[in-house]
Amino acid sequence: MESLKAKINKTKLPNHIAIIMDGNGRWAKKQGKPRVFGHKNGVNSVREAIEACAEIGVNYLTLYAFSTENWNRPKIEIKTLMALLVSSLRKELKSLQKNDIKLNTIGNIKQLPEKAQKELEEVVKKTKNNKTLTLTLALSYGSREEIVNVIKNISKKVVNKQLKFEEIDEKIINNHLYTFSLPDVDLMIRTSGEKRISNFLLWQLAYAELYFTNTLWPDFKKENLFNAILDYQNRERRFGKTSEQIENINE
Ligand code: FPP
Repeated sequence: MESLKAKINKTKLPNHIAIIMDGNGRWAKKQGKPRVFGHKNGVNSVREAIEACAEIGVNYLTLYAFSTENWNRPKIEIKTLMALLVSSLRKELKSLQKNDIKLNTIGNIKQLPEKAQKELEEVVKKTKNNKTLTLTLALSYGSREEIVNVIKNISKKVVNKQLKFEEIDEKIINNHLYTFSLPDVDLMIRTSGEKRISNFLLWQLAYAELYFTNTLWPDFKKENLFNAILDYQNRERRFGKTSEQIENINE
């Protein structure tokens, strides 16, 4: 594994990695266990991904932990996911502090159970001055809902004359998203073989490289993340330009 990590070019790291952690339910089913068993094991992969990013120097990691659509799941599963969130935050606070990791959240946090909101608030507050890695949890998050809110908030400012219609540009929109403090995503990973975006960071993924793997989330370990980064580093990001233009910039 060390050799895989050694192959990574530290000067071409993705600044922001976002992950759709998928396949917990199928992982559990394969072993004849209830779905929540998959989520419990998924927490270990969350830890691995955070550690891997911290080890190599990725600055931003965003995890899709609970979507607006996930509220339609069986009550018992929602309850377990929320309980896992609370217990993980309690258990990991020390390690977040030790590793200089700042916790951030995106999504309609007010929809979460009070206990989860409180725990999140506390960890966000306690880690707010940490600088090495910003870990963002997307919770009760839906990208379309986020964009609708942006439009409402910007319109309100225009109506109230706090903002001129002509002033609306990409920067203004960025500043109204949940992710206003985060850079664009460079690499988006989805596990479990599904090749969809599923209402995750639609605006923020505009120029991201997409990486899909069949590995189910509870099996996704550090070496899987290093492999995804190596794949990313072998791609040419052109942002609409030609290969020749990119080569000239790099010379
Ligand atoms: C997708 O698998 C996974 C989720 C909806 C939740 C992810 C949550 C965790 C890994 C644990 C808690 C998180 C934190 C941050 C401590 P799925 O249930 O959709 O799997 P399936 O597609 O195989 O059914």
